[in-house]
Amino acid sequence: MKITSLEEYQKTYKRSIEDPEGFWAEIASQFTWKKKWNKVLDWNFTEPRVKWFEGGQLNITENCLDRHLADKPDRTALIWEPNDPAESTRRYTYKQLYQEVCRTAEMLAAHGVKKGDRVCIYMGMIPELAMAALACARIGAVHSVIFGGFSAQSIVDRVQDARAEYIITCDGANRGAKEISLKSIVDDALEDLDIIKHVFVHRHTGSETRMIPGRDIWWHEARNESINDYPAEIMDSEDLLFILYTSGSTGKPKGAVHTCGGYMVYTTYTFINVFQYQPDEIFFCTADIGWVTGHSYIVYGPLCAGATSLMFEGIPTWPDAGRFWDIVDKHKVNILYTAPTAIRSLMSYGLQPLEGKDLGSLKVLGTVGEPINEEAWFWYHDHVGKNRCPIVDTWWQTETGGILISNLAGVTSARPSYATLPMPGVQPVLVDEKGNEVLGNPAAGNLCIKAPWPSIIRTTYRDHERCRLTYFHSYPGLYFTGDGALRDEDGNYRITGRVDDVLNVSGHRIGTAEVENAINEHEGVVESAVVGFPHDIKGQGIYAFVICPEKEGNDQLRKAINATVDLVIGPIARPDRIQFVTGLPKTRSGKIMRRILRKIAEGEMHQLGDTTTLLDPNVVEEIKKGRIE
Ligand code: WTA
Repeated sequence: MKITSLEEYQKTYKRSIEDPEGFWAEIASQFTWKKKWNKVLDWNFTEPRVKWFEGGQLNITENCLDRHLADKPDRTALIWEPNDPAESTRRYTYKQLYQEVCRTAEMLAAHGVKKGDRVCIYMGMIPELAMAALACARIGAVHSVIFGGFSAQSIVDRVQDARAEYIITCDGANRGAKEISLKSIVDDALEDLDIIKHVFVHRHTGSETRMIPGRDIWWHEARNESINDYPAEIMDSEDLLFILYTSGSTGKPKGAVHTCGGYMVYTTYTFINVFQYQPDEIFFCTADIGWVTGHSYIVYGPLCAGATSLMFEGIPTWPDAGRFWDIVDKHKVNILYTAPTAIRSLMSYGLQPLEGKDLGSLKVLGTVGEPINEEAWFWYHDHVGKNRCPIVDTWWQTETGGILISNLAGVTSARPSYATLPMPGVQPVLVDEKGNEVLGNPAAGNLCIKAPWPSIIRTTYRDHERCRLTYFHSYPGLYFTGDGALRDEDGNYRITGRVDDVLNVSGHRIGTAEVENAINEHEGVVESAVVGFPHDIKGQGIYAFVICPEKEGNDQLRKAINATVDLVIGPIARPDRIQFVTGLPKTRSGKIMRRILRKIAEGEMHQLGDTTTLLDPNVVEEIKKGRIE
């Protein structure tokens, strides 16, 4: 499965494009299937319809767990590093993790959870979160993990859309100096929902927790600790594995659907190749399992590959900005995979937190989630990797399931701020506004993909039309990523950022429309428009232009608006800047001209372009004057 030289990459890539079915069948045959597939691939991007390994039957957890019991039951599968360094680390061998997942699966099944049911998981970064997801997969239930920083209203939206009848949560989560009462947030969410049958509650922080008899179930009481095995449900390749909600340019977040077979094959293949993973290495991905990175590269990819995956409960800056480096040294981490925003944030503390840290175990560094600027790239390379670790810049999306464009560590060349080359089986193209492919190098355009790879999004849950319109409609016959990109003379891709109304704030995807809707929920707000602006640490910050009836908004109103955003989405969507305005630049047909607002937020006031089509060009002057630095 592993590519180990540039020539081999080139050969493999060529083969994967000429004979995708033969190529992927070969990779897939290295997994455990209960029944082999009849057809490797069936697709068209018009409906769209994509089916991989049709007729094949499997259970992904047998590949993550059971498969390893024969030859490496005592290898560590999961290392858990708690938020507080004074508390003890936990470790699970493959055998132990298998048993934990079996017990959890039995608990869920005993309380009515069955194949096809949707289960929302709202937990902190603790081993039980991985166990809960795997337990769902084991019984064939579809998990939908909700990031622990989201609000009660976000839970309501997701539970309703997914029609979930079960929630798995914990009493509280530790994040730095803060404790977040997850269970009470779930309780708030459930006040308006009557479709939930059971809430499973894992006791983690030990804080006082209200339990509703009949509905709420303590994990430690319901699990039968004497159970060691639980049979894995037989799943078809194209049965749903999970739904993960993600933001787009319009409306509420949509449920990206991933299925069992292709997702398993692709995440494992990319994990092994991008990071050049070798047995017994310790892999530390700092993402939260609430996001796709955690799904694919903390849980499924590494475990299917038999790797040792480290998960961390806390944040990089607590108790101090040396926390990541202490974890690397303590556990002798070999591969570190993090986000540019974390690197920039740690950079801002200078080199002192790195003093006295060894970091000698590191071999490979990775980044994901947003474009990495050169300064951050070199800091990571020089001070963390000490000039000897290749950096993989991995570009991908919730919808792609796994990494699509990245160098392979130490095998293909890195170029700072370039994700570089496509994975085998991935055919990127750049298109101009008219949808014509931009040929030749160098080139620039909107990034699309020509043909399906095994872990491409199958649909948006219960709304296939939305999937079609969002990804397959702008450029017929192509999957549209929503990103812009450049391609250099050698064919390396550099992702320049979103070309739609999606923001990337600290590596978190947030739709401008979502933030506007949240702001508008505040009774003192008439209308709002939200755009991004460059932010030194977060990559992008959120700039909100807000109309309120009293001519002058004030700091109190700003605070109240922030509190409303906290309630509707969560603190990650809080605007960095709120400018009160009396009007917004609109066309005669009433459309807000975001281009102008974006330029103003970015401070590029002299390049506003044509404003003559505006209903009232005077508002632009007012907005320019009131701009917040
Ligand atoms: C951005 C995260 C530049 C991009 C895995 C994409 C990146 C969005 C990179 C998806 C990268 C992700 N370089 N930009 N290496 N990786 N992005 O769904 O804009 O949370 O469309 O998936 O993040 O974010 P998502």
